[in-house]
Amino acid sequence: MRGQFITLEGGEGVGKSTNLAAITGWLSEQGIDHLVTREPGGTPLAEEIRGLLLAPRDEPMAEPTELLLMFAARAQHIATVIEPALAAGRWVVCDRFTDATRAYQGSGRGLSQQLIDSLAALVQGELAPNLTVLLDLPVEQGLARAGERGALDRFELENLDFFQRVRAGYLQLAAAEPQRFAVIDAGQPLASVEQAVLAALTEFAAQWR
Ligand code: TMP
Repeated sequence: MRGQFITLEGGEGVGKSTNLAAITGWLSEQGIDHLVTREPGGTPLAEEIRGLLLAPRDEPMAEPTELLLMFAARAQHIATVIEPALAAGRWVVCDRFTDATRAYQGSGRGLSQQLIDSLAALVQGELAPNLTVLLDLPVEQGLARAGERGALDRFELENLDFFQRVRAGYLQLAAAEPQRFAVIDAGQPLASVEQAVLAALTEFAAQWR
């Protein structure tokens, strides 16, 4: 049987890494063969593109450049990592996917969602996450946490308004597809956040086992 495709989304500093570890720990406990990966990145070539995308630079990156680099990295990632794993029956847990493009480049930058749809159709065809865990947190709290991690990347240097649009964009996506999204309040104590994430995962996995 084909593997399940799970994505983890959210703004800056929402606690994706910690919760990713909880998800993969749970899958291992359940004996579910899985692969953990991330976007932009996940292959040597796509990680090089990630470097281009995240490095702060004097030359402003044009918005279409950013969008196309995101999808270039994704095309490589899908072809060489995600699709082969799913086809082999492995579950794939991906830290960010196309919902991030809709939220950041669509809602954040203001690029057309239709344009994003066209690129998604080109790059991923029918491939879509089966479950998306969205960690939601007020922007100020997330940015404060992200700031504690040290040097900021090109996205983390954006202003508050940008991140407010990103957050609203994510919540809109979740409202439009409630069957795919599990929205988790990431402002709770960490143990409660993890518990809520694992509850969503348990409910999802029950359909497939
Ligand atoms: P990360 O810090 O969660 O690894 O993500 C890297 C940054 O890339 C983050 O600020 C969000 C951004 N991003 C987009 O803008 N669009 C996308 O499609 C993806 C996958 C990430």
